Amino acid sequence: MNPKDATPLRSQRWFGPDDLRSFGHRSRLRQMGYGASEVEGKPVIGILNTWSDLNQCHTHFRERAAEVKRGVWQAGGFPVEIPVMALSEMFMKPTAMFYRNLLALETEEALRCHPIDGVLLMGGCDKTVPGLLMGAITMDLPAIFLPAGPMLAGRWRDVRLGSGTDVWKYWAERQAGCLGDCEWREIEEGIARSPGTCMTMGTASTMAAVTEALGLTLPGASSIPAVHSAHARMAAACGMRIVDMVREDLKPSRLLNADSFDNAIVADMALCGSTNAIIHLIALARRAGVPLTLDRFDAISKQVPVLANLRPAGEFLMEDFHDAGGLPALLGLLKEHLHLDRPTVTGRALGENIASATVLDARVIRPVDQPLDQAGGTFVLRGNLAPEGCVIKPTAADPRLLHHTGPAIVFRDYPDLKRRLDDPTLEVTADHVLVLLSGGPQGAPGMPEWGMLPIPRKLLKQGVRDMVRISDARMSGTSYGTCVLHVSPESAVGGPLALVRDGDLIELNVTERRLHLHVPEEELARRRTDWKAPAPAYRRGYGQLFIQQTTQAHEGCDFRFLERGEPIPEPAIH
Ligand code: FES
Repeated sequence: MNPKDATPLRSQRWFGPDDLRSFGHRSRLRQMGYGASEVEGKPVIGILNTWSDLNQCHTHFRERAAEVKRGVWQAGGFPVEIPVMALSEMFMKPTAMFYRNLLALETEEALRCHPIDGVLLMGGCDKTVPGLLMGAITMDLPAIFLPAGPMLAGRWRDVRLGSGTDVWKYWAERQAGCLGDCEWREIEEGIARSPGTCMTMGTASTMAAVTEALGLTLPGASSIPAVHSAHARMAAACGMRIVDMVREDLKPSRLLNADSFDNAIVADMALCGSTNAIIHLIALARRAGVPLTLDRFDAISKQVPVLANLRPAGEFLMEDFHDAGGLPALLGLLKEHLHLDRPTVTGRALGENIASATVLDARVIRPVDQPLDQAGGTFVLRGNLAPEGCVIKPTAADPRLLHHTGPAIVFRDYPDLKRRLDDPTLEVTADHVLVLLSGGPQGAPGMPEWGMLPIPRKLLKQGVRDMVRISDARMSGTSYGTCVLHVSPESAVGGPLALVRDGDLIELNVTERRLHLHVPEEELARRRTDWKAPAPAYRRGYGQLFIQQTTQAHEGCDFRFLERGEPIPEPAIH
């Protein structure tokens, strides 16, 4: 029984009855060495661990799982660790995003089929966060998230290096012939120096922060560096807290509503977070029954300034952000934009969690009257090229290009881009607009981070470092440049992007939130009639399932059969 409200624990369906099946379950616990008093009547806490030898950001998760267990035991629970898909952003191809929904499905089913009363989700490397949360929201058992935490700042000679952001920067220098083999090798050895996630405000840091703003982590958890002893203490505290959450029946459905998602978007905008967060937040909201659209992001972006001075938009790195007070301090400056009454995993409201938070370094978390940018981090654009919307991160772009009209150069897919981009005969100038097709949810498939199209090498050598680039792909949260992303509907399903031809004039007007293809409607209609869908990349297996089931970027790219619908019954135990 749940001691506080006498609700039977879900796990007791497996362990409680005096019947043959329950005998089997109990005897197998004895086989594992657990006596009756260690399990009986205790909340069973599933620890879903995304550790693997090929997830470099989660190498500390075996230790952290032990610390979580310590906390669960201390609070009177029974911890069980269950490995789930590790989604390594670096090593998985074509992209970890291709497998986000598979992790969501695995999470949902791992929780459904096992005798679990509450769940602690261990993730951090980009897509592990939404994948775990999507499944947990659907299952709606009490759940708390343990973020992996950022890695230490990188270093090369006297330069502090940021994940991703400085890779792109120094790679461009190398392509331009300004960086030798020796220097490049030194950067390779110094850019990732510890366990933990990318330490810029990339997708991992953004998703950890929005998870905290949603109320699903302990306060301040999202920025604690992975190797900090406070991270181990936070792990144990999460273990303790989830046991009480089971006793309080504090489930995602009691924590999440439209106001919670507004809080997450406020945090995202003030952090100038990764554009990827938009797709993931829409997917999470739809799982929670909240009809979140791109328009909500744009409305909040007009009200919330960028206060976090973090790369790629700013200067500092995640350990600086943590030392400056972390997310509670940032949110403390934004109270007028937040729904402070939203409940959180602590059992207290968000406002109570951040009541005493203060900014300790105003260079890193800027005062409201000295923002990094007056408007929030991500803008939503529309126009005849993106009827369902697309996104851009203006702070990461060359301001000169935010209002730009130029002729298109179209690459029909990524291999075409790789083949022709650095061809010396390609007629390209800094004024051209580079357009990549077949980078979307169905076309690639899985929306790889191809959206920061490289600058052609011959332009790099001329000193060009930014151009307008447009695609239906995503870009890494650590990337920068005038990149218009997530164009929806995508080219592979016949979206207008598929109708662009070399030389067509494209107008980008970020102030007016507009992306326009200057081609007469009759001509577009003619091209539409001639358009033929590209052959699907997969004709069987998971790839085929993905192509058939994924929604578009503006809908969150969830699988249709996994979106919110009729509740699935609890498994029969017989
Ligand atoms: Fe894991 Fe960046 S590669 S968070």
